[in-house]
Amino acid sequence: MLARFLLLAAPLAALALPSRPATLKRTHERRSVLPHQWEEHADAHPDMRVPLRIALAQSNLDTAYDELMRVSDPESPDFASHWTAKQVAEFFAPSKNTLDTVVNWLAEEGIDRSRVKQTQSLGWIEVSNLTVTEAEALLDTKYKVYKHASGKPTLGCGSYSVPEHISKHIDFITPTVHFDTRVNSPRQEQRRKRDVEPGVAKNIGQPWSGSTPKQGASLSAASIITELEQCGSQITPICLQALYKLPIDYIQFATSKNSYGIVEYTPQSYLPTDLDMFFEQFLPQATGKRPTMDSIDGGNIQTEYEGFDYNGESDLDLQYSMALVYPLNPVLYQAGDMVEGASFNNFLDAIDGAYCTYDGGDDPTQDGVYPDYATGGYQGPETCGGYAATNVISTSYAYNEADLTPFYETRQCNEYLKLGLQGVTVLYSSGDYGVAGNDGQCLNADGTYSANGIRFNPSFPGTCPYITSVGATQIIPNGTIFDAEEASQSVIYSGGGFSNVFATPSYQTSAIKSYYANYPPPYTAAQYNNSEAVRGLPDISANGAFYVVAVDGEFELVFGTSCSSPTFGSVITLVNDARLALGKKPVGFLNPTLYANPWMMNDITTGGNQGCGTPGFESVPGWDPVTGLGTPNYELLVAKYLTLP
Ligand SMILES: *[C@@H]1O[C@H](CO)[C@@H](O)[C@H](O)[C@H]1NC(C)=O
Ligand SMILES: *[C@@H]1O[C@H](CO)[C@@H](O)[C@H](O)[C@H]1NC(C)=O
Ligand SMILES: *[C@@H]1O[C@H](CO)[C@@H](O)[C@H](O)[C@H]1NC(C)=O
Repeated sequence: MLARFLLLAAPLAALALPSRPATLKRTHERRSVLPHQWEEHADAHPDMRVPLRIALAQSNLDTAYDELMRVSDPESPDFASHWTAKQVAEFFAPSKNTLDTVVNWLAEEGIDRSRVKQTQSLGWIEVSNLTVTEAEALLDTKYKVYKHASGKPTLGCGSYSVPEHISKHIDFITPTVHFDTRVNSPRQEQRRKRDVEPGVAKNIGQPWSGSTPKQGASLSAASIITELEQCGSQITPICLQALYKLPIDYIQFATSKNSYGIVEYTPQSYLPTDLDMFFEQFLPQATGKRPTMDSIDGGNIQTEYEGFDYNGESDLDLQYSMALVYPLNPVLYQAGDMVEGASFNNFLDAIDGAYCTYDGGDDPTQDGVYPDYATGGYQGPETCGGYAATNVISTSYAYNEADLTPFYETRQCNEYLKLGLQGVTVLYSSGDYGVAGNDGQCLNADGTYSANGIRFNPSFPGTCPYITSVGATQIIPNGTIFDAEEASQSVIYSGGGFSNVFATPSYQTSAIKSYYANYPPPYTAAQYNNSEAVRGLPDISANGAFYVVAVDGEFELVFGTSCSSPTFGSVITLVNDARLALGKKPVGFLNPTLYANPWMMNDITTGGNQGCGTPGFESVPGWDPVTGLGTPNYELLVAKYLTLP
């Protein structure tokens, strides 16, 4: 019976199907045009070797938020049971099923197991000694040699296919349709420098990125205030200590375990003489102190360009954070060289080497690419890992959410989640243009820009639900630190609004619900996503107006959420000191605890964040998309956080 059946079946199969069912493949990726500067050169010789790498699909992204809440929710018994970097890597590593399925497929295709290995980061499979002939059969494709204008050749193809049951287990395969756009001749670099597009992520440190603070009047040393009663006209470190109930002459107990990081993007950099000028005025014992520097991708303290646009941001961030957490010495993460620059992804690569290749790696059209062969560029290797993340990280730069793709933003946002799992508090300023984007830009209905766009333009990473977004307040006109603050509306307007990409995280649901129930804003879906189902920002705020900063040898008044983020970060760093002194872990991802305990903040209920031809949103009792939950009260924060595990 059996024999007859086989006899019958065999010729049929041979006629209908050329081989096993596993080879029924469908297109996984296709490219229709070659990238700029590349052209087809020749067919690939059948014996050439293809360095095949298969990016495996990550696991557990769907449950990652629950895990973040487990270590960040104040009601959770596992609060602050943070993960190690290794635990994070293993949790998100492709599942055993994914690995086995892909390895079995390769075996069915005749590729011996001994030639297949998983990379150390666990995210990739590499196949060794694969010929073009083998790769073409495996992927149902035709390999060609392409040449870049610089002369660099590469192997590639126009499209490739994998069996249907393999598709969901892999992200993509290289070398195939992805061309290395990293090869750039110095001349191209020069051209790129000239035609910089606004929106390119690695340009964030440039003065024209629209993300830097605003400069006010210069002050003579004699006119600098010395009394708390005068904080209405100038903000100095003592004003902030009084406003947010920071302890005066507090002895930190845990400086050896504590850490605070400030991120700067070249060409922004501090002037050492400015730090000393500030300390001589406000904290003489700190004179001569410098932050500990972690140089990322050639980041250095440049002195080629000076001026408020080059020194204002870094001088501000470092003077205030260093003064408020003294004697703890902050870490300065200085990212990018003078030519290529750096993006938030380049910074994340430096504190988590696995992120360099995670989910396809960085985007060479957005992120800094190193080594940078342009004249004056940093020729060293790209910084991948090697630096530790500090307990709190404050960044006073922000993109417009509309300038980056949802894929790019989701990839980066997931990385903030992973930092949260490891107990890192990530703070970003929310922007200085109210409901508008950097430089006051607003959107058209389709997400493009024009002068008469009416759609609000929120900031990123502010809209990522896994960071804490910091808005700006100010002392009321002619008021004192004893009056309630209002939303910043002298010179700058606190960035705030709602995401067009990210859904409301559970920790924010009830705050958003009561905001809409009690104070429905007067705008429509034409201006912003009013579904009540998207992430709102900022989460919190701190004073951001009339800061006295030493810049280029002069005291000047400075305005911006750029002031607010390092100030709030300093408050949290001191909360961490109290916890560390008792042998507890740092606070980590803040938002679940802040939203569950709004009484720890001074609720801000007046002022708006005008922009896009509107008065913007209004600050109201409870959370609002102008000042978030309000400004910090250190005494209440520390009291609550000391009761948590
Ligand atoms: C690579 O494969 C060829 C046959 O295609 C074989 O002769 C050679 O020994 C292999 N080299 C290695 C390093 O495995
Ligand atoms: C603040 O005080 C100045 C000088 O006393 C006065 O001219 C101004 O009107 C006051 N502003 C407000 C908002 O009260
Ligand atoms: C608003 O956000 C919700 C939730 O993410 C989404 O379903 C909806 O499509 C968005 N509306 C618009 C107009 O984009």
